[in-house]
Order: sequence, then structure tokens, then C-alpha cells
Amino acid sequence: MGLDGENGVPLRGVCLSRNWSSFSHVYLLSMPNLILAATDLHRSYALADSAVPALRGVSLHLNAGDFTAIMGPSGCGKSTLLQLCGAMDKADSGSLKLDGREVTSMTDLDLTRLRRERIGFVFQFFNLLPTLSVLENIAMPLLLARKDEKSAFEKARSLAARVGIDHRLSHYPNQISGGEAQRAALARAVIHEPALLIADEPTGSLDSTNGQSVLELFQELNRDLGIAILMATHDAQVATIAKQTIRMKDGKIVE
Ligand SMILES: Nc1ncnc2c1ncn2[C@@H]1O[C@H](COP(=O)(O)OP(=O)(O)OP(=O)(O)O)[C@@H](O)[C@H]1O
Ligand SMILES: [Mg+2]
Repeated sequence: MGLDGENGVPLRGVCLSRNWSSFSHVYLLSMPNLILAATDLHRSYALADSAVPALRGVSLHLNAGDFTAIMGPSGCGKSTLLQLCGAMDKADSGSLKLDGREVTSMTDLDLTRLRRERIGFVFQFFNLLPTLSVLENIAMPLLLARKDEKSAFEKARSLAARVGIDHRLSHYPNQISGGEAQRAALARAVIHEPALLIADEPTGSLDSTNGQSVLELFQELNRDLGIAILMATHDAQVATIAKQTIRMKDGKIVE
């Protein structure tokens, strides 16, 4: 399914990347295509005798090709917002549309399908599966979606080469460095050609050199393939790589 698939929007400007040649899609680069529309999201966490408000009315839009950084102090609600936007959690109230479809009323099965097909995730601590090799980790989203095994591994190899981890394909996650692990996690996050990439502190546990090279890969994915990126970070320097920065405080967007 292309970026225009569910919305029926006709293709205007298309670009096939030379660098990311394992991608089969054509991606829209020249025309705005609303990927995510969040309106007045509220989310509280229930504790024994109280509720902790994490989001207090957040609205946010992302088009294809957007790269938005979310900054703000610890506890302001960045991860909570990313979890909602990635359809990993549900809001208490408000509306969240991904590809024009309302997420808040979806069944768990539809949510799982949406995540598998349209969203990629990168986390601070990589979240690679420890019992699988690097190659198997990267191919996993395609294998879970029951794609052909041979082509899944071929694509995983090709992406691994693109992110510079192809010399570690048979290693297990505890046998690679943090920078290598995050590059593998990034390849895994985009192998199914998502429309939206969610990244929560993706450089938070990397040194500056590895952090920089991972960020450059984010930039390429955004620039060459038009993948919309929503990234939380504490680091103002990291945020400069994004095209737009929003700031949160106490569960709200403040600028
Ligand atoms: N499972 C939970 N149960 C109760 N409270 C929670 C839970 N998860 C998060 N919170 C609270 O919700 C608020 C927002 O948390 P969140 O993790 O979204 O913040 P954050 O901006 O990502 O912080 P950090 O920068 O430290 O990662 C915080 O006050 C946090 O303590
Ligand atoms: Mg967080």
C-alpha cells in the first residue's frame, strides 16, 4: 500500500530513491498528505487513589515528509504522546486519526494491523529481541506480516547494508555495540515501509558520534523517502536535525 492508498489521493510528485533501493514504494514528496491528526488528546494514568494527568489537551498534525521533534522536561508527557500517536496506547478522550482513520475507536486487532503496516518505532534502548540474530530482528516485521521469507531476508540484508550493520548480521543483540544496535533497530523500524516513524530518545544511550550517524539516517529516511518522523528528545542539539520543534510542559504543547 502506498501513501495514497487508503485516502485515495492521486499521486502527483513521485520519487524513487536510489540510495534506499530496497524500498518498493513510490513516496509522495511534493504534496502534503496528512498522516496524523491528533486533536485535544487527554491521557491520565490511574494510581491507587488518584489519577496522574500525563496529557492535558494536545493537538498535533503531521504530513508526509514532516520531521518534528518534541522537547520538554522529564515527565511532561512526551513518551505518553508518542505512545498514543503510535497506536500503542489509547487516549481517554480526544481524537487521533492516522491515515484519515480514527484510532480511538479501533479494535485491538485493527490497531495491531495499523501498527504493523503503517508505523515504525525506535526506542532509546533499541528493544531488539535478544534470542534473534541481527538479520532476524531486522526481518521480523515482514515475517510477522507473513511476507515471503526469502524476500524478507533479502530486504533485511539490503537495508542492513544501507545502515551499515551488514557485517554483524549473524550476531545477537548482546554481541553488538549500542550504535550498531540502534542502526539495526532503525532498519527494523522501516523495513515494512511505514508512513510514520516514532522515535523516543533514539540517541539517548549513544555517544555523540554514533548519535550523529543515527540522526543522519533519520534525515535520509525523511528526505529521500518522505517518511514522517515524530521524535522525542531532551537534547536541543538533536532537535536541530528536525524540521520543526514543539515544546511540551505539564502535559500540554506550549510552543
Ligand atoms: N504507567 C504510569 N503510571 C503512572 N504514571 C505514569 C505512568 N507512565 C507515565 N506516568 C506519568 O505521566 C507523566 C508523563 O510521563 P511521560 O513518560 O510521558 O513523560 P516524558 O516527558 O516522556 O518524560 P521523560 O523525558 O523522563 O522520558 C509523568 O508525570 C509520569 O510520572
Ligand atoms: Mg519519555
